[in-house]
Amino acid sequence: MTLIEELQALAKQARADLKEKRAENLDQIRVAYLGKKGKVTAALKAMKDVDPADRKTVGQVGNQVRQEIQGLIEEQKQAQAEKALAKQLAAETVDVTLPGAKPRLGNRHVLQQIMDEIEGHFLGLGYQVIDDPIDSPEIETDEYNFERENLPKDHPARDMQDTFYVTPEILLRTQTSPVQSRVLEKHDFSKGPLKMIAPGKVYRRDTDDATHSHQFHQVEGLVVGKNITMADLKGTLLSIMQELFGEKHQIRLRPSYFPFTEPSVEVDVSWDEVTADTKPEDIRWIEVLGAGMTHPNVLKMDGVDPEEYAAFAFGLGPDRFAMLKYGVEDIRQFYLNDMRFLDQFNERGN
Ligand code: DAH
Repeated sequence: MTLIEELQALAKQARADLKEKRAENLDQIRVAYLGKKGKVTAALKAMKDVDPADRKTVGQVGNQVRQEIQGLIEEQKQAQAEKALAKQLAAETVDVTLPGAKPRLGNRHVLQQIMDEIEGHFLGLGYQVIDDPIDSPEIETDEYNFERENLPKDHPARDMQDTFYVTPEILLRTQTSPVQSRVLEKHDFSKGPLKMIAPGKVYRRDTDDATHSHQFHQVEGLVVGKNITMADLKGTLLSIMQELFGEKHQIRLRPSYFPFTEPSVEVDVSWDEVTADTKPEDIRWIEVLGAGMTHPNVLKMDGVDPEEYAAFAFGLGPDRFAMLKYGVEDIRQFYLNDMRFLDQFNERGN
């Protein structure tokens, strides 16, 4: 067999190998024919024995054979890659006609919606919103929760707020009023008056029933500056009530008692709209919050001179607002996480 015949036989064999084995291991075949110790390489080593006159032709055949085998291997490689890709694409097909699973979207809790509305209103009036755990902690000291609010240890008005004590001096705050002192004692009046609200959770040792929850919410308000009067308080409360209940509602102040304000008032809002034709005796009033002019003792304890500065404060209850606004008869509904209840306040309307 001449070298040319030998080379052609190798090419034939390689074609058969590549076809038959479906070339699972193309590298192995490449090494077997074209590698350093491969069959074609070995055959070409006999070149030195070929008649110099024939070397050119034999060399050309050798190259052709090498190129053919190389080309076939490349072709196979490509075919394999295409097949693998097609297989993967087939496996990953998405049937866009299948009905989708609708994810349940979250929604602001109804109480959060009311608190956000109150916050938005006061932000618009230039108030600071204090709700960080440093100035508005839910675990408070007796000092800030009571004493600094003009409720010394033996004060009978402490009975109005049954308290969860952690230790004799530490408790779960019963009101957001302590936030007033925490912020006021640090306030720098050279930068202007203090105007703040403090929305947050409060706790009382009440037995839960339709109108009591051991945890509920308050939004505290405090304005301290020069020449602050009861008229400022009334105007401010009217603006927030009209925001929450509607422009046509009115408010009424009734004398009341809180240890930290003097005078103290309880504030009623008209249940119905009031127009020029409404007779005063026809208005139905509902009580919505407590307020007053901050007691001089409170200002003094917070390092503010009551001769120079005056202040008003108020405390409103978002839970009560939500009950009134939506006709919810049991406060516990807000804390049960019953989706049938909560979905009624879904802002997306679905
Ligand atoms: N802290 C009072 C309470 O929990 C609510 C309150 C009333 C707050 C009058 C005030 C206020 O700031 O002036 O019952």
